[in-house]
Amino acid sequence: MGSSRWKRLCLLVLLGLTFSVVFYGHYYTTTNSPTSPRSASRLLQQETLGLVQEEIPRDVSNHGLIKESIIKRGIPAKDSIERETLNHPKEKDLLTPSLSQSSLCPRSLKSKIKMDPTFGKQFDFEIPVLMGEQHFTPETWDRLKERNVPYGWRGLSYAAIASTVQLLNDSANNRLFSKTRLPNGCIRCAVVGNGGILNGSRQGKEIDAHDFVFRLNGAVTKGFERDVGTKTSFYGFTVNTMKNSLTAYAEYGFTQVPQGKNICYIFIPSDIRDYIMLRSAMLGIPVPEGYDKGDDPQQYFGSEASAGKFKLLHPEFMYYLTQRFLRSEIMNSQFGHLYMPSTGALMLLTALHTCDQVSAYGFITENYRIFSDHYYELEKKPLVFYANHDMLLEAELWKSLHRIGIMKLYQR
Ligand SMILES: *[C@@H]1O[C@H](CO)[C@@H](O)[C@H](O)[C@H]1NC(C)=O
Ligand SMILES: *[C@@H]1O[C@H](CO)[C@@H](O)[C@H](O)[C@H]1NC(C)=O
Repeated sequence: MGSSRWKRLCLLVLLGLTFSVVFYGHYYTTTNSPTSPRSASRLLQQETLGLVQEEIPRDVSNHGLIKESIIKRGIPAKDSIERETLNHPKEKDLLTPSLSQSSLCPRSLKSKIKMDPTFGKQFDFEIPVLMGEQHFTPETWDRLKERNVPYGWRGLSYAAIASTVQLLNDSANNRLFSKTRLPNGCIRCAVVGNGGILNGSRQGKEIDAHDFVFRLNGAVTKGFERDVGTKTSFYGFTVNTMKNSLTAYAEYGFTQVPQGKNICYIFIPSDIRDYIMLRSAMLGIPVPEGYDKGDDPQQYFGSEASAGKFKLLHPEFMYYLTQRFLRSEIMNSQFGHLYMPSTGALMLLTALHTCDQVSAYGFITENYRIFSDHYYELEKKPLVFYANHDMLLEAELWKSLHRIGIMKLYQR
């Protein structure tokens, strides 16, 4: 008798647990449905930090537990990206390579990749990295309108997308580098994440010695020059992560997005906000509508930002990267619609598809636990995993790319 009551109690507890998970799931799908991408991206961007923590149930914010308690309970994936194999679009417009690897570089990462049986199949150097006006064909619209952001344009207005993409008509919008200044024939890139591993690293000189330096989100350099350098060639972001960084890291000195004559901006198309901000920035007008209405793009990108300084990652490239390199289990969970590769991952993979040699600094390593979340924190803060990114999967990818010699991952 006693034991059956015990069993019933257990069942009740289990039921309660299941309900609470379902409830949380419901809460998230209602508050963060794709129709309100604003709140979705706001709540879960890992870069948001403080804002986020209270609002995410503890077990949901923990990577391990998501896998164990949600995925294994078999709650069906909602809105997750279809697991179909990536069918490579064969239209002519997509075959125009927008990359700039130099054929003159003897030790290009491309040759290493070609020799590797696994990565040789994963990397596709023909896929366009950046979106340009010439890609905006009826076929592209038809294909991309079937996919959610950041992989497509589902639910977004044709007028908003068309009016933005049609401005990307300068050759400068379609390439990251001009091939003029290549001392040894190789394009050497440093991609600088914001990880705590850089605190005290003294990598600044080495970073600045690269031809191009990519930075992203809360990329504070002032006061950290010795560790992270000063040079910035590309700044990568979504409008959401950029604005969150300006709020969350102002206390550490991130009061302004990097600006300057030689800096280009790489927009990640994670939301309609990114298209509207990009269009406003290129036209040099205040944001006319939407969440960022009234923002002056010059406040972010400077008053001299010419149209050629702005680049937009191709949604097709985002899709390809996710499918081939960062297909996380989270995509099959109920949080699938919130998942996308981190800003850092997108910048590093962009560099790997466009540069001849790549070094990554401030990216997650196996021993991430001994470092603070960011290099600029004053007291150690642990790196917290949220459902919108899969940092451990990213860590594995960087480790393999480093091991095979495709890129150099800074570790200590
Ligand atoms: C791009 O389009 C704009 C607006 O339609 C036009 O004014 C500009 O001259 C075009 N630029 C190029 C390089 O074709
Ligand atoms: C950064 O490094 C310094 C010196 O090694 C150390 O005192 C400080 O605690 C570190 N900051 C963080 C946030 O770990």
